[in-house]
Amino acid sequence: MKKSKGNLFPIFDDILQREDKEVLLQQNAKVIWMTGLSGSGKTTIAKGVERYLHSKGILNQLLDGDNIRVGISNNLTFSSEDRAENIRRIAEVSKLFMNCGIVTLNCFVSPTIAIRKIAEEIIGSENFIEVYINASIETCEDRDIKGLYKKARAGEIKDFTGISAPFEAPENPELEINTSELSIDDSVQKVLDYILPKIKNK
Ligand code: ADX
Repeated sequence: MKKSKGNLFPIFDDILQREDKEVLLQQNAKVIWMTGLSGSGKTTIAKGVERYLHSKGILNQLLDGDNIRVGISNNLTFSSEDRAENIRRIAEVSKLFMNCGIVTLNCFVSPTIAIRKIAEEIIGSENFIEVYINASIETCEDRDIKGLYKKARAGEIKDFTGISAPFEAPENPELEINTSELSIDDSVQKVLDYILPKIKNK
């Protein structure tokens, strides 16, 4: 390439790093990993957290089945192999956001300890905040917001977490929110209280 005379756009050997982006955004990137049964309240809580962070100038991205399973994971089923691949892809996507300084709010059933371990290893444990959104199977089935539990009981959906596929609760989550007991407001507040000191950088 012809050498330019000026120095308007100096070329560096390295691309910009995560730290550069974090300085620009004045925040620390983290991956908030919410695990729990379908209907436990993961996305509902994340939506509250998303809006609050945004209002405080903290750039964040909510990731859940709605934006992942219709796109990047649209060729995957709910077999245990496909769930592992789903989680691997999500962890890699989250890492890209993280390296851009952005906080991600991940809402995935991610049903086994092993699957969440894969995610944690990809993301790095210092960046990975595991939040267990705990509601009993009875509560989730009572809510049955999407009507999926009814279908799973009728055998119309196979490998349904909590009914015909396992869910292993985290043994040592950083944070646990019991949505059978807490209101949505209190749940959002509890997540914010825990994560804000870790992502604020002002
Ligand atoms: S994960 O197990 O691979 O982490 P993911 O969080 O992407 O699952 O998707 C779970 C969502 O997909 C549920 O909230 C529910 O709406 C829907 N779903 C459809 N089929 C199933 C199934 N067999 N098991 C669990 N969730 C299912």
